[in-house]
Amino acid sequence: MRSDDSVTDDRKTDRSRVIALVAMTPTGVIGKDGDMPWRLRSDLMRFKQLTMGGTLIMGRRTYDSIGRPLPGRRTIVVTRNADWRCEGVCRAENPEQAIETARHAPASQSPPTSQQETSAASDTSSPNRGIYVVGGAEIYRQLLPCCDEVWLTQVWSSVCGDTTLSIELSKFRQIEQTRIIASSKDSVPTEFIRMVHENS
Ligand SMILES: NC(=O)c1ccc[n+]([C@@H]2O[C@H](COP(=O)([O-])OP(=O)(O)OC[C@H]3O[C@@H](n4cnc5c(N)ncnc54)[C@H](OP(=O)(O)O)[C@@H]3O)[C@@H](O)[C@H]2O)c1
Repeated sequence: MRSDDSVTDDRKTDRSRVIALVAMTPTGVIGKDGDMPWRLRSDLMRFKQLTMGGTLIMGRRTYDSIGRPLPGRRTIVVTRNADWRCEGVCRAENPEQAIETARHAPASQSPPTSQQETSAASDTSSPNRGIYVVGGAEIYRQLLPCCDEVWLTQVWSSVCGDTTLSIELSKFRQIEQTRIIASSKDSVPTEFIRMVHENS
């Protein structure tokens, strides 16, 4: 088993991989009432660290729940609404177009949106060209089959939700598992599991 630091080290070499990040309970709950039914500061901090400088692909409902583009990362929102516009965000007609857009112009070519957030990523020696699929369920279902990796936060909670996901993991092999003890700012303990597609 490896540490969080080694994940960050790997980011330096896996620049253009397509990586899904998902937090999920053992029964597959990922959301409730348009949000996530837990508070996990440690997971949010890791999410920020791992994705900084890269491209985030998300569904329109997930974007609505966040309500703004996350600083220091390019955001691509998938929506069927041709009139959808939001400053600082790219729109994609479908998930495949989102991947194409991300590959065509890596996020590192875009100017950072926040000095503060940029400095958080300054420990890396080269730009982050990673493409991160960050939900929600509709987008995971369509893009997980073409992801090189899944970074799963197993949320040890029995909470109920209205958005669930079932991940077909038979084509992925686990290469890391790290237990995270709940801090005072985490509502439950978690486990970070990193899985790589068998063809990548
Ligand atoms: N636990 C986690 O890791 C995690 C991560 C992210 C989100 N979430 C949670 O998941 C929930 C949201 O997930 P969700 O499944 O309801 O919504 P979603 O996947 O975030 O977004 C769905 C929307 O994406 C667009 N879309 C989906 N497929 C499309 C396609 N093929 N072509 C064009 N547009 C397409 C549509 O937007 P339009 O309706 O605008 O056309 C659709 O309504 C929230 O509760 C959120 O908090 C959890």
